[in-house]
Amino acid sequence: MILGPIATNPYRPSATPLVDVIEETPTIKTFVVEPPRPFAFRAGQFAQVTVPGIGESPFTPSSDPAHPERLAFTVIRTGRVTEVMHTLKAGDPIGLRGPFGVGYPLDEFEDKHVLIVGGGCGLAPLRSLIYALFGHMDRIRSMAIRYGARESRELLYRSSYDDWAGRAKVSMACTIDAPEPAWVGHVGVVTTLLETIDTPIEDTIVVSCGPEVMLKYVTSALLRNGFSPDQIILSMNRRMSCGIGKCGRCSIGPYYLCRDGPDICYAKIKDFAHVF
Ligand SMILES: Cc1cc2nc3c(=O)[nH]c(=O)nc-3n(C[C@H](O)[C@H](O)[C@H](O)COP(=O)(O)OP(=O)(O)OC[C@H]3O[C@@H](n4cnc5c(N)ncnc54)[C@H](O)[C@@H]3O)c2cc1C
Ligand code: FES
Repeated sequence: MILGPIATNPYRPSATPLVDVIEETPTIKTFVVEPPRPFAFRAGQFAQVTVPGIGESPFTPSSDPAHPERLAFTVIRTGRVTEVMHTLKAGDPIGLRGPFGVGYPLDEFEDKHVLIVGGGCGLAPLRSLIYALFGHMDRIRSMAIRYGARESRELLYRSSYDDWAGRAKVSMACTIDAPEPAWVGHVGVVTTLLETIDTPIEDTIVVSCGPEVMLKYVTSALLRNGFSPDQIILSMNRRMSCGIGKCGRCSIGPYYLCRDGPDICYAKIKDFAHVF
């Protein structure tokens, strides 16, 4: 694949060197780039990232949308593209095209309590939302971050939790699936942390990102607790190809997740087959 200096064609990536690679967990790394031109994006929008000679995959920036000059992608090693991506070092080029999708509907968060529920590497896209909301805390009532990983060594961004939890109007809790000898925190899947939410349900909006099975259980738990489908926004990380609503690969009912999502209100998709 040819990497161009500036993307004029939506299928053509622009080349940018990695400026840093941060090892987050044994299977997750954060790749930092400073593109030749700032890559403006809204929290929740995604980019197609090319690993030269291998292929491209969609990733949502995990960095602050207020800083489009320095982007970060936090990536779990799972297959062909990400295996090779994890071998890249600072100075190696990657390609970027996008941003794609619509991003989180921040206007709908006005004057709401925002509950952010993440699982595993799903905290990566949510981190850009967390940063975006930190810039507008006067416009929301509160932010509750509830995050779970299988094991403590898989918890992302651990060094940030105290900072997040120490901010006005923010609460943060994390959990791991099973007990570990040195772990003194909460144990249980992330839905068990939803019991610690005490904001009025009618004024709360929920955003969740994680493996599909987690999204399914989080959604069921929320509905059981009295949330309505239109209060739940899910980040649906389906397989994608074109990223621009042309190939049909990412459809749920009439929606193309690359174009209409990937963060989409559960009320819109709940009646279609194979949502999870
Ligand atoms: C809009 C969007 C945003 C995303 N953001 C991130 C992110 O910030 N960080 C991150 O680590 N990942 C993210 N993903 C998932 C990421 O794109 C896939 O993990 C990646 O494409 C896998 O590529 P691969 O070639 O390494 O794996 P492959 O060899 O293609 O597949 C390896 C395994 O992963 C599964 N898989 C592949 N693609 C997906 C997918 N989209 N969702 C679930 N399972 C998949 C396959 O079924 C297979 O079991 C995002 C996906 C989308 C659609
Ligand atoms: S990825 Fe092609 S239509 Fe969504």
